Amino acid sequence: MTTRADRDPGRRSRKERGTAARSDREGDSSSVGADCRISSVRARRVWDSRGRPTVEAEVALAGGAVGRAIVPAGASKGSREAHELRDGGAAFGGLDVMRAIANVDGEIARAVAGLRADDQAALDARLIELDGTPTRSRLGANATLAVSMAAAHAAAAAHGVPLYEYVGGAGAALMPMPQIQIFGGGAHAGRRVDIQDFMVVCPAAQSFAQALEWTAEVYRHAGLVMAARGASLGVADEGGWWPDFASNEQALATLVEAIERAGHVPGEQVAIALDIAASELGRGGRYRLGLDGRELDSDGMIELLLRWVDAYPIASIEDPLGEDDADAFARFTRAAGDRLQVVGDDFLVSDAALVRRAAAAGAANTVLLKPNQRGTLSETRAAWDAAREVGYAGIVSARSGESEDTTIVHLAVGWGTGQLKVGSFARGERMAKWNEALRVEERLGGRATLAHPWPRRAR
Ligand code: PGA
Ligand code: ZN
Repeated sequence: MTTRADRDPGRRSRKERGTAARSDREGDSSSVGADCRISSVRARRVWDSRGRPTVEAEVALAGGAVGRAIVPAGASKGSREAHELRDGGAAFGGLDVMRAIANVDGEIARAVAGLRADDQAALDARLIELDGTPTRSRLGANATLAVSMAAAHAAAAAHGVPLYEYVGGAGAALMPMPQIQIFGGGAHAGRRVDIQDFMVVCPAAQSFAQALEWTAEVYRHAGLVMAARGASLGVADEGGWWPDFASNEQALATLVEAIERAGHVPGEQVAIALDIAASELGRGGRYRLGLDGRELDSDGMIELLLRWVDAYPIASIEDPLGEDDADAFARFTRAAGDRLQVVGDDFLVSDAALVRRAAAAGAANTVLLKPNQRGTLSETRAAWDAAREVGYAGIVSARSGESEDTTIVHLAVGWGTGQLKVGSFARGERMAKWNEALRVEERLGGRATLAHPWPRRAR
């Protein structure tokens, strides 16, 4: 990429001006110097969308650019995810992050001082080496990721470009198809229903903005249907309607009803995407569907999901089987992978090696990409590179514990993954991301294309 120094070597004035977020909005590239050497790194404790502590890092560069990023947190996590460092003890349920913050302010700040923020690979390699453990268990993946992301924001600001363009170059123009939750369940809704995410995608939408318009109407009508049934009880962790259903399948039927009431043809204009989050339902190939009063083995689970795929306009299923049930994951993919996106989240934990192994076994055909499952941007990016090598699709994803941070929107566009999962169509931490994507699409203007990652007809 051309650096600002190449284009305009003279400008280095006005210190401490502008985070990446500000430069995105204003398109203001004239006020921040191009010297990308890291001059200071600090962290602070901020609070996520569940009211839990999390890490925000701020990286300042010699040329005056500053970048900032907040790390999210999951609730239904894969066991192979990178280690999130929490303090334990009584305060805030043991979830405080003061140790991770001290690691950023101390060891990490010293180790990365003077490194170039715009050499993400070298910076992330330094973070990984400094931690010295395979899972970031010493310094914390929340500490390393905060710095990794904040440095990217600072570098983008120094280069005078929005983060998506810094990450993906001037040609990055593929808008992601959004996967938007309508009903939240599982660990995000007190396990009121077993399935975690009942989402929609808009295969026939022509733009990101249009996909949001369609989804807004589906979300609204789903709320009206619930209210009419006397089942309107607020929203779950990611903003989806609280799932007051008599069975898991009733949620599917209600989603179809909401799509129709919104005036769309189910499966053609608006289709269903599910996250079963099956690792939450049991271990060792046993799956307990509490709401339905059933316990299924792997084949029973596969049979149930295939029946749903036949009966409902489902375009995508995430974690249909548990993270420890790789053979069944492959059997399901063989049975449905030609007509369905089969996504590995807990199963693949944004890990390049696991993506390659899964591909060799024929399990899944899509990887969910969550930067905090690995702890640096480079490692998350490596999982996407591996996915492309093996012909898998990719979905950049938020966590259930989020903030106003919009980094993932820029990663989805910059990496060109073609899909973005952020939660529902309510609550500020979700809308901040959808709205940021609208700004990106507007900035791209006529160059923007909405990705259509699966066949037009979902079934
Ligand atoms: P989590 O869930 O962020 O709570 O882990 C999100 C998902 O499973 O996709
Ligand atoms: Zn998931």
